[in-house]
Amino acid sequence: MQDCTDDLKTAKPHSLDRADTSEGDINLSQHRSLWQNRYIDEQTRNWLDKDERYFLHQSLSTPCLNILSGALGSEIKDIQGGSFLDFHGNSVHQVGFANPDVVEAIKKQIDTLSFCPRRYSNIPAIELAEKLSQITPGDLRRVLFAPGGTSAVGMALKLARAATGRFKTISMWGSFHGASIDAISVGGESLFRKGAGPLLTGTEHVPPADPYHCIFDSNGNCDSCDLKCAKYIEYILEQEGDIAAVIAEPIRCTSVNLPPKGYWRAVRKACDRYGSLLIFDETAVCLGRTGRMFACNNYDVVPDILILGKGLGGGIFPLAAMVAREHLNIAGDKALGHYTHEKNPVACAAGFAAIRFIEKEGLVERSEELGDYALNLLKKMALANSLIDNVRGVGLLFGLELMKKNADGKKIRATDEAEQVLYASLNRGLSFKISQGNFLTLTPPLTILQSDIEKTINIISESLSEILVKHS
Ligand SMILES: Cc1ncc(COP(=O)(O)O)c(C=O)c1O
Repeated sequence: MQDCTDDLKTAKPHSLDRADTSEGDINLSQHRSLWQNRYIDEQTRNWLDKDERYFLHQSLSTPCLNILSGALGSEIKDIQGGSFLDFHGNSVHQVGFANPDVVEAIKKQIDTLSFCPRRYSNIPAIELAEKLSQITPGDLRRVLFAPGGTSAVGMALKLARAATGRFKTISMWGSFHGASIDAISVGGESLFRKGAGPLLTGTEHVPPADPYHCIFDSNGNCDSCDLKCAKYIEYILEQEGDIAAVIAEPIRCTSVNLPPKGYWRAVRKACDRYGSLLIFDETAVCLGRTGRMFACNNYDVVPDILILGKGLGGGIFPLAAMVAREHLNIAGDKALGHYTHEKNPVACAAGFAAIRFIEKEGLVERSEELGDYALNLLKKMALANSLIDNVRGVGLLFGLELMKKNADGKKIRATDEAEQVLYASLNRGLSFKISQGNFLTLTPPLTILQSDIEKTINIISESLSEILVKHS
């Protein structure tokens, strides 16, 4: 094991560029401006100027990159006629953009019951709730819908308080659970938390299980470190004694963080031992993304509350859900969600059609098989490219971590290069996400053609080579 005090002695205080270490790519950067100067025509520039004039500016959003006019299958199109394979899609497009089954279900539903006022229920909402209670593992059976993952996280925190009579939580540094005050309190990204004022109290944070940079084991094998990261959670559960819930993404989507096999089982046991609930936020990784219908299936662990979102709306409607275990149906006298669109029939028809499509087309199995194929290709490609330090993936979720050596020969994050690779790839017709500044996150639709996977890997390889030549 390396003695980390050596690093501490020589470390200079520094502040990280927060946008550089967060969720998405930076919207004010030199590389973006250069790309826009070259690509964007006058008509698009005019719309972008209007967008900037009428929207509140915020990081990771406005000012925007480009103006879209279409989204179909695996592709997005801009108003200049350019098209891009979309390996980003905000993780909503498991069934592809404008999936015909989903579109048809939405159109039919709009023509009959387009909204459901409170006090009433409707068949699409009931059917979707029934479907979720059937396909989620264990006795996860009780459903509440919400208009987005953030709201579903809020409902889960309220249910955990109601069920345990406690209010404290344990969550992960570096995590994202949405941008509202309660969600950023349990979230762990500085970009969202810094300067936001007093956050919720009682939100303890721990480092996530990180088998790629595990500091506990000199062999780099996390399982052999005796799962110290899980034991750390157990230690807090024991010390505090009154933690309501541990909340985490079972597989962190943006950084494709795959905890070692025994990790969640150990955390599950610890939660049971100390009377705390386990909440899995699968907003971004549910519905086949990881080669299983739900990411927790990869660990054979059933949480007490499962949060679903993004693709649940079929890539068209904002829709999320909290699915709780049967015994948590204890808050009949409380309002956990109370959202205007709680049982929106059109959103639920979209969700039901999306899940039916996933089942009919065997997209979960496809995600696993095609994912294995793509991961192999990516690993081969990485061998030939010195900027790629690490490739990881599960199902159709992949991450490439870019690192380089500084003048002292020390490995550092290749953030500038990651951005350049993005814009070089856009030039070749590929869009993806950058996370944590140096991480290329790839989330294609589960309907993606094998040939489009191959094309994508070639584009990334060419773009990386182009950047390396520039820097040599
Ligand atoms: C894990 C996770 N939780 C919650 C959210 C918030 O979801 P929404 O934007 O639908 O509110 C996101 C969004 O990216 C997410 O990735």
